[in-house]
Amino acid sequence: MQDATPPRSPPRGDTPATLDECRRCDLWRNATHGVPGSGPRSARIMLIGEQPGDQEDLAGQAFVGPAGRILDQALARAGVARDEVYVTNAVKHFKWIPRGKRRMHKTPAQREVDACLYWLDQELDRIRPPVIVTLGATALRAMVRRPVRMQDYLDQPVRLGEAWLLATWHPSYALRVNDAAERDSVIAAIANAIARARKLAS
Ligand code: URA
Repeated sequence: MQDATPPRSPPRGDTPATLDECRRCDLWRNATHGVPGSGPRSARIMLIGEQPGDQEDLAGQAFVGPAGRILDQALARAGVARDEVYVTNAVKHFKWIPRGKRRMHKTPAQREVDACLYWLDQELDRIRPPVIVTLGATALRAMVRRPVRMQDYLDQPVRLGEAWLLATWHPSYALRVNDAAERDSVIAAIANAIARARKLAS
């Protein structure tokens, strides 16, 4: 007897061709743009943040707001040009909650990070960076694919398949500390991780 059940097609939006068509989670609903990574295909270092912020959502580009300016300071201290690295995020849509007229960042849920691995994996396949620097806990967990603690990974490169993985602070952490010296030490730690990444990549 012939099976009358039609072949199961993927749920709508399961394998979108473009970020703008992505419906793999609900974050697209409140976002202006899906924000892709950017940088040369030949980049030897990939920097991965958490998710676009308010300004990135509007501009459609990763790390162009306040956290991006901290990242640029760290890159400059490490002597690495921004246009030689590939910069992306674990999650491609801005998750936020309204507070008055402002859109406040909200940490993405694990299921949203998992849904977005679809895009991150494509970037990893395309760039094949020998060194990956994760900025903050969300990016680290997205890369190791389990709920690890940042402290166990900070300042010690680990092998991840063919690549080195280096974990450091998220640049927004520097924006949250009020003390200037402490802020400077966070930027220095990010710069050290990037400088180390450059050595590993050479
Ligand atoms: N924070 C991130 O993690 N990524 C950005 O692009 C901007 C802020």
